[in-house]
Amino acid sequence: MVLNSPRGTADIFGNDIEYRDHVTDSARDLFEIFNYNEIITPAFEHTEVFSRSIGTETDIVSREMYTFKDKKGRSLTLRPEGTAAVVRAVIENKMYTAGATLKLFYIGNMFRYERPQKGRMREFWQLGIEAFGPDNALLDAEVIWMLNLLFKKLGFKKLVLLVNSLGCHKCRKDFLAEFGKYLEPLADSLCGDCRNRAEKNPMRIFDCKKEGCKEVLAGSPKIISFLCGQCSDHFNKVLGYLEKLGINYKKDESLVRGFDYYTRTIFEIVSGDIKSAQNALGGGGRYDKLVKQFGGLDIPAVGFAVGIDRTMMLMGQLGIKPRKKVKKTKIYLICMEEKHQDYCLEVLKYFREKNLICDINFTGRNLKSEIKQAGKKEYDFAVIIGEEEAKARMVTIKDMGAFEQQSAGWDGEKDKILKIIGAGDNE
Ligand code: HAM
Repeated sequence: MVLNSPRGTADIFGNDIEYRDHVTDSARDLFEIFNYNEIITPAFEHTEVFSRSIGTETDIVSREMYTFKDKKGRSLTLRPEGTAAVVRAVIENKMYTAGATLKLFYIGNMFRYERPQKGRMREFWQLGIEAFGPDNALLDAEVIWMLNLLFKKLGFKKLVLLVNSLGCHKCRKDFLAEFGKYLEPLADSLCGDCRNRAEKNPMRIFDCKKEGCKEVLAGSPKIISFLCGQCSDHFNKVLGYLEKLGINYKKDESLVRGFDYYTRTIFEIVSGDIKSAQNALGGGGRYDKLVKQFGGLDIPAVGFAVGIDRTMMLMGQLGIKPRKKVKKTKIYLICMEEKHQDYCLEVLKYFREKNLICDINFTGRNLKSEIKQAGKKEYDFAVIIGEEEAKARMVTIKDMGAFEQQSAGWDGEKDKILKIIGAGDNE
C-alpha cells in the first residue's frame, strides 16, 4: 500500500527549502531591526482559545477547525492562526509590563480544513507579529510598514496594500443598525449561510464569496462612514504616517477580514500578479479588546501574519530567486575499509569541529563509485582514507573542481590540510 500525505498538506524539501529559508531569514532580520522577540506556542490549544476570539460565526471556527477530543475528553484544536494563541500566552506567562510595548513574532504551521487548491492548504505556514501596548496610530503604521518592507526586501514589485478601519464597538453598533435596515428587504437574495449570519453576526456576510451576496453588499452602507470621532482621527493618523513613510496604500471600504477580534485598522497585502482568490499574501489589524476578553488587562494590540507557502509560490511564479547563502566547503570523507573507521572517525570529528560540512560514506563502494558520488552530491573535496593512508596516518585530498590530488600527514600537517581545503571560509 502506498501512503500519501493527507490532502492539503505538502512535504517541503530541495529547492523549496532555499525559498523558505530566504523568506523566514529575511523576516527574522526585519523583526530584529524593529525590536521583536520570538515566541513559540503549542501547535494545539484548548478549542475555546480560538472559538472565543475568532468568533463562532466565522468560517474558520464554524467549519475549518481541526478539533478533536483528547483521551480525557478535553476539546483541543490545531491552531488555525497565531494571534489568539499568542494572546493566551502573553496573559498566562504575565509577559506584559504596564506602560511598555511588548513586541513578539512567530513562525509556525497553521491548520484550516479548507478546500485545497493552489495557494490554499490545510496545513500551511505563517510568520507573524503581534505588538501589545499603546493605542498609538504610529504602532499601526509601524506594523504595516514592516509588512510592506518584508515584501519589498523579498523583491516583490506589484503589490497592493489595502487598508480600512472597522472602528470600535460604538461605531460597529451604529453601522450594524443601518446595515440591518439595508439587508431586511434583500434577505431573500442572500445565501442560506448569510441569512443566518444576518441574524447572528451580520459583519460576517462580508466574508461570503457567493456572487449573490457580493451583489447585495455592493450597494450596502460601509463601516468606514460610521466611524466615531476618535476612530476616524486614529485612522487618519495611520494614513498620514503611511504617507510620511512613502508607503502606497489603497483604501478598501469592503475589506473586513474574517475574524471577529478586529477593531479599528485592518489591512491586507495582495499581489497584482496572482489572478485568483488566493492573492492575499498577508494581512492583519488592530484588536484592542481581545486581551481583556481573554481575562487579561485592557491592553490594545495590533499585528499581522504572512502566508509563507503562498509567498514562496509567488516568488517561484515571478522568477524571484532566493538569496544565495555563503557557500561552505563540503567534504566527502571516503573510508575505503571498515577496519579503518576509527581513524576516519578521528578525521571526521576534527573537520566537523572546524565547522566544515563533512560527511562519510557508510557503504563500502569502490573508489571510482565513491568519487562519482562526491561529484554528484557537489562536494568540494573528497578526502580518501585507504590502506596506504591509514597505515601512514595520511589523508589524500582530491579537489573535485580542479581535479587535483594532494596528500598530507594527519598528525603533523593539519595546517596544510586546512589550507588545501580553504577551511578559513567556514569559520
Ligand atoms: P489571515 O489573513 O487569515 O490572518 O492569514 C494570513 C495569511 O496566511 C494570508 O494572507 C495567507 O497568505 C495565509 N493563509 C491563510 N490561509 C491559508 C491557507 N489555507 N493556505 C495557505 N496560506 C494561507 C491571520 O491569520 C491573522 N492571525 C493575522 C493577524 C495577526 N491579525 C492580527 N495579528
